[in-house]
Amino acid sequence: MKLSVNGTVHDVDVEEDMPLLWVLRDELGITGPKYGCGISQCGACSVHIDGELVKSCQVAAMDVEGEVTTIEGLGTPDLMHTVQQAWVTHQVAQCGYCQSGQIMAAAALLSQNAAPSDAEIDEGMSANLCRCGTYPRIRAAVKTAALQMKGA
Ligand code: FES
Ligand code: FES
Repeated sequence: MKLSVNGTVHDVDVEEDMPLLWVLRDELGITGPKYGCGISQCGACSVHIDGELVKSCQVAAMDVEGEVTTIEGLGTPDLMHTVQQAWVTHQVAQCGYCQSGQIMAAAALLSQNAAPSDAEIDEGMSANLCRCGTYPRIRAAVKTAALQMKGA
């Protein structure tokens, strides 16, 4: 099976029903997407497929059509995505476990809504849970990223 992740095509040989999250982490060593619940409840495993936000624990790798982007492909420490920069500015992360999923959700939200209201941010981020309670800083960082993208 061929799987394109962060601009690289991989040939993977796995069970047909193996979730994308397992393939990313265990086969390809891409550990940004986290295993939280495995049942579509937490969003820690969030990635993009052709820009759409997807919970990678919920899709079989063999069903993936399109380019998979994980946090590793969104930006790099040297060339961060605007959302990643805003996360640093606001020091959003506490334990950090949920944060790659949060950032992927925020990037997807801003690609569809360039200027989300508080309610739209809360709604757009509602599928991503953070046990540390970083929600106020997430909201602030999304707003900062929106402003920066607008000015770009
Ligand atoms: S691990 Fe996928 S939603 Fe929780
Ligand atoms: S920062 Fe710890 S779970 Fe979100």
